[in-house]
Amino acid sequence: MIVLGIESSCDETGIALYCTNRGLLGHELHSQIDLHAVYGGVVPELASRDHIRRLIPLTRQLLHKSGLQTSDIAGIAYTSGPGLAGALMTGAVMARSLAWALNCPAIGVHHMEGHLLAPMLEAEAPPFPFVCLLVSGGHTLLVRVDGIGQYRVLGESIDDAAGEAFDKTAKVLGLPYPGGPHLAKLAESGNASAVKLPRPMMNRPGLDFSFSGLKTAAITELRHNPSLNPADLAASFQAAVVDVLLGKCERALRAEKLQTLVISGGVGANQQLRKQAREMLSELDGRAYYPRLEFCTDNGAMIALTGALRMKSGATDDLAVQIQPRWSLESLPAV
Ligand code: KG4
Ligand code: ZN
Repeated sequence: MIVLGIESSCDETGIALYCTNRGLLGHELHSQIDLHAVYGGVVPELASRDHIRRLIPLTRQLLHKSGLQTSDIAGIAYTSGPGLAGALMTGAVMARSLAWALNCPAIGVHHMEGHLLAPMLEAEAPPFPFVCLLVSGGHTLLVRVDGIGQYRVLGESIDDAAGEAFDKTAKVLGLPYPGGPHLAKLAESGNASAVKLPRPMMNRPGLDFSFSGLKTAAITELRHNPSLNPADLAASFQAAVVDVLLGKCERALRAEKLQTLVISGGVGANQQLRKQAREMLSELDGRAYYPRLEFCTDNGAMIALTGALRMKSGATDDLAVQIQPRWSLESLPAV
């Protein structure tokens, strides 16, 4: 069964074709970074308009490159939430209309479930059960995963998401939007112990995160000391975020008595996070799994995969064009 996947929840238009027998057949991505960079952040209305412009040409391009026709598509998966309402609507309308025209089923996919299952696109998929750290621009979640749709949220950010904290700190450092990868690059030439920054929520029990105070502490350091080396601040900030994220991961793994950690979502592309996660897991005699870098950030492949896995078990939605800008991961049905 070949499933077309459509991602349009934020500032990336992602299209992919996933075959339940042969795996990923191909994918296309159009990033709107240049469009939003001048505003220093995503402008929702511009995002929606651009998705409308890109969705059909990208799908045509992918079908052409894959040597397939629309008639080869047996199901359509699209991100129906969480995300920007207008942006979600563009993908939902396209998916539902095409499914109706092709007389095939369509299914709305939870964007964070897509991130969570993205490592299954790799040759070595993580075995269930595992702990998953989902770190994106909008969410920071620690989840126990016992199977597809069997999710228990162990902890989450009570304020800024990790990616949001990266982006806001980067902005103050004068780096372009989205700041996360730029801050990480700058951190490579800095000294991570140069600036003393807090490790919020680390000496409290529990698995929740808070990044707002850390971001403010970094910004305050820079304001009080304008001659501070930006690379040192970037490295110190990154070290603090990574320490907190992995400190909580270790706590979760020990509490759940598990040795498999999955890290996914945009911040999962951070090399320092990956390096320290590998070290931590080798101390625990366990293993860390990640999607390839391009599937850490938003993409259509993770949506096609998630939709295909759910459709294989018989799940489909009705014809109504529905989006869920706010949607709990724990409310998803088990497969
Ligand atoms: O998952 P994603 O593409 O979109 C959302 O669903 O939010 O995540 C985007 C976030 C942004 O905040 C971006 O700055 C961050 O991921 N990010 C990084 C890195 N690459 C992307 N943060 C830190 N280090 C990176 N290498
Ligand atoms: Zn995402």
